[in-house]
Amino acid sequence: MSPRVLLLLLGICMLQASVEGPQVKSEKGVSGNSDGSHSPKSQEPETKPITEGTKPPATGRRATSISKATHILNTILSNYDYRLRPGIGGKPTVVTVEFSVNNIGPVSIVDMEYTIDIIFYQTWYDERLCYNDSTDSIKTLVLQSNMVSQLWIPDTFFWKSKRTQEHSITMPNQMVRIHKDGKVLYTIRMTIDAGCTFNMQRFPMDSHSCPLSFSSFSYPTSEVIYKWADFQLVMNEDNSWKLFQFDFKGMSNKTEMLSTPAGDFVVLTSFFNISRRFGYVAIQHYVPSSVTTMLSWVSFWIKKDAASARTSLGVTSVLTMTTLSTFSRKNFPRVSYITALDCYITTCFVFCFCALTEFAMLNFLTYTQMKAHPSPKLSQYRRRGRGRAEASVPARLRARQLPETFVCTVVNMGDSDGDDDDEQEDQPADVGSAPPPQFLCSMWRQGFKKYFCVIANCEGSTWQQGHLCIHIDRLDDYSRVVFPLAFFFFNVLYWLVCIYS
Ligand SMILES: *[C@@H]1O[C@H](CO)[C@@H](O)[C@H](O)[C@H]1NC(C)=O
Ligand SMILES: *[C@@H]1O[C@H](CO)[C@@H](O)[C@H](O)[C@H]1NC(C)=O
Ligand SMILES: *[C@@H]1O[C@H](CO)[C@@H](O)[C@H](O)[C@H]1NC(C)=O
Repeated sequence: MSPRVLLLLLGICMLQASVEGPQVKSEKGVSGNSDGSHSPKSQEPETKPITEGTKPPATGRRATSISKATHILNTILSNYDYRLRPGIGGKPTVVTVEFSVNNIGPVSIVDMEYTIDIIFYQTWYDERLCYNDSTDSIKTLVLQSNMVSQLWIPDTFFWKSKRTQEHSITMPNQMVRIHKDGKVLYTIRMTIDAGCTFNMQRFPMDSHSCPLSFSSFSYPTSEVIYKWADFQLVMNEDNSWKLFQFDFKGMSNKTEMLSTPAGDFVVLTSFFNISRRFGYVAIQHYVPSSVTTMLSWVSFWIKKDAASARTSLGVTSVLTMTTLSTFSRKNFPRVSYITALDCYITTCFVFCFCALTEFAMLNFLTYTQMKAHPSPKLSQYRRRGRGRAEASVPARLRARQLPETFVCTVVNMGDSDGDDDDEQEDQPADVGSAPPPQFLCSMWRQGFKKYFCVIANCEGSTWQQGHLCIHIDRLDDYSRVVFPLAFFFFNVLYWLVCIYS
């Protein structure tokens, strides 16, 4: 049975085609809209298999509606001039715009651009496209991309777009719908790489507002007006947008007038607000920087004789910070201002540098004292000819002799700050006998008065009671407290400023 039905159908189709064929050909010459009349017909093969074998009589009805649609199209396009906008010479055409976002991202900070894949809907009224359908069976003509060239379409273009891509698989991703009342909906899908100025001052805590603005290219305000449709951009949690490091925060819009030499244009802009996810940067930058800074403090717990160990630790941490700061700017636009991350890394760098400098200072001062005033104890050792101890003694003594020589005039006036009491006993004699340390001390005292003494009366006895009396010998003890405290307060301040600014 079915082969017979198929044959019958085929016969009907062929008959129909032979009837319509010449009709189309004859009209081709008149209005050049053969594409249009073909387009609805091309839908027929799709619908045929459904009706096939079940409702053969329906084919006839469909054929009438097809011819009706063709007729409508031919009628509305017969006197249609797609070069002219609807209502020319009268009121401006109002184009209502709406879009949906398939995808935002990726965002390229280096190129200062972002990619957005949208489906763009434009609606306007074209009274020339009104049609009458007596049976009311065709309320909307749904047409595809091949009709687009025969209609007037607003020449919307995107400001600040760097590259745009239309999608044309399998057919150009465009669509036209013509309603009975002349309302036209034109939809196109496109991918736009649009420029976006990223202000990176607050870098890891930054949020940006990326604009997508468009207007008509040729029609000024008096001809075409754009306006936003009332729509809400849907944001769902599990959308597959490729924002990676960023979170989508919302969309806002703006309508403005732009004056150009060609006239005033209505420019519509929508802003996509994104803010950075902090986790990535934290793992990449903050944690290594802080850990490296803390690592540099280990040096304060290593005895100062171990110069090589302390130096290498200091230099390593400084170099690590240098690498980290270079690394932090790697995938970054070459902006000249300082970002919040730079600020943090630089401070960490300074901390590491200070830790290294602390040791350099300690070592230098010890060494200077040694040379300027070889301790009598040391010469005693030498006199005794303890060749075996020669190498180790200077270092050991260097550590001990400091309170004696350096803080001489500061501490020796009855102040028993020294660690080793036995050394203190020897001290006055040492100081009295050697003028160079005296001179050195006074020089240092000048320096200390200048830089470390904050109490009003620095002279005489008050100086000894001053809390700012600095023992070179105890520099490490101070550092063990001062460095972590300073770093802690810096962190507190930094994060407070970052959160509340
Ligand atoms: C629609 O049909 C009515 C009569 O049926 C006619 O008066 C009217 O002018 C037609 N409109 C158009 C746009 O063809
Ligand atoms: C997006 O950012 C702009 C500029 O910073 C702001 O004016 C607007 O309110 C933001 N919109 C949303 C939805 O957050
Ligand atoms: C545009 O912004 C206005 C208020 O600023 C809002 O009422 C409207 O819904 C927005 N439209 C779109 C399309 O976001």
